[in-house]
Amino acid sequence: MPMITDKITLEKLLQRMYWIETEMEQLGTWEARIEMMEDNVAALEVLSHDSDKHGNIVQKWLIIGDITVPETAPSGLPKHIFDFEGMTSNEMFERILKYEILAKNAYEDIKNANLDVITELFPNENDQTEFMQDIEQLIKDEEKHANICKSKIGGFAKIML
Ligand SMILES: [Fe+2]
Repeated sequence: MPMITDKITLEKLLQRMYWIETEMEQLGTWEARIEMMEDNVAALEVLSHDSDKHGNIVQKWLIIGDITVPETAPSGLPKHIFDFEGMTSNEMFERILKYEILAKNAYEDIKNANLDVITELFPNENDQTEFMQDIEQLIKDEEKHANICKSKIGGFAKIML
């Protein structure tokens, strides 16, 4: 993606990421419906728990940046990103992987945003530093999540209808 060079683009991306993290947090609700091995359940728990933390981090920056915290899906995103009905666990982790990679790329775009845009959104210098530290952590976590998904792709368990 091209470099983020305006405030609106950055604001919209943060709103989208808030939404995606919130949806990812819901992954935990699929556990009970999935016929799968214990380590798959553990993987879903990590993804869900971290996404809850990520959602809170992104929400914190929306509030500091005086950006509306979305209550409905931002434009271009489906109402519910994850519907695993009828999928195998393989397909499920493939679908999650797609969003983990998308998240990692989005946070990298934010990290590489034009510095003027960051400064405009967060005029306080300490905020700028903390924001960048948070984004770095998010990138690392998403990398870890993508690897978790990759390690799970190849299983045979089925999702119950
Ligand atoms: Fe993630």
